[in-house]
Amino acid sequence: MTATVYAVANQKGGVAKTTTTIALAAALSERGQAVLVVDLDPQACATFSLGYDPDELDPTVHDVVGGRTPIAKAVLQHAEMDLAPSSIDLAGAEGGLLLRTGREYVLRAELEPLRDTYDAIFIDCPPSLGVLTLNALTAADLVIIPLQCETLSHRGVSQLLETIADVKRLTNRDLEIAGLVATMYDGRTRHARAVLADVQGRYGLRIIGVPVRKSIRFAEAPHDGRSILAYDGSVPGAAAYRVIAAELAGLAVDDAQRAAAGAPA
Ligand SMILES: Nc1ncnc2c1ncn2[C@@H]1O[C@H](COP(=O)(O)OP(=O)(O)OP(=O)(O)O)[C@@H](O)[C@H]1O
Ligand SMILES: [Mg+2]
Repeated sequence: MTATVYAVANQKGGVAKTTTTIALAAALSERGQAVLVVDLDPQACATFSLGYDPDELDPTVHDVVGGRTPIAKAVLQHAEMDLAPSSIDLAGAEGGLLLRTGREYVLRAELEPLRDTYDAIFIDCPPSLGVLTLNALTAADLVIIPLQCETLSHRGVSQLLETIADVKRLTNRDLEIAGLVATMYDGRTRHARAVLADVQGRYGLRIIGVPVRKSIRFAEAPHDGRSILAYDGSVPGAAAYRVIAAELAGLAVDDAQRAAAGAPA
């Protein structure tokens, strides 16, 4: 077993990075894979949404990037996946990281011994292009870029692509972009459809699987401490994440699964 490491990144806030991280992890776990989520955001939303109180956890990823704890010691066993949790202290760790030698490589070095334990490792990035996101991009094999179809910020994506190009040049030559995840898609609006049609050519990127449809259930699932798949796996958005995860991992999906996602023809 050699884990594929995915960084889920976009410096734009609220585009469904955390939702995508948890849902894809749950989808691969459903298919029998061993999956780890690394919460690299000081807001600790992934940690919260899996039902943990970040204030009560010790150690966390903050201790890991501070060099005080190996990541394996921080890992929690959630019913759906393993989690290396975050805490608000991680915000302070950014400053400490900047002073460390090889600061971009800290997470990569920590994850190296875990590659034999997991099939997939997903890193949930904060909404910035700071040293934490650089750590994720340096540790990753593939970048997944969630994009909200309706409020697409083109300039933001170009900046992210420039950062990825820098990382490829300087700290992680093998990094590749897996593609875009089209999130919070409303297939009824012409604007969403137009954005979707435009986006692939504009950035030279493909959309992985199918767009993820909007559902109020996504806002409810975190309060239940579960992924959307466990909370209400019947909504099209949950089915979409199953299709996306299967495509990433090279697993089969049939037409019924695509249809359940409400995939546009
Ligand atoms: N398919 C969806 N349908 C409806 N709401 C969604 C969907 N996906 C995500 N959301 C909601 O959008 C909000 C933002 O999602 P999320 O926290 O995953 O974004 P993020 O990119 O991680 O944000 P941040 O940049 O703050 O880390 C959340 O309230 C989430 O429940
Ligand atoms: Mg988030």
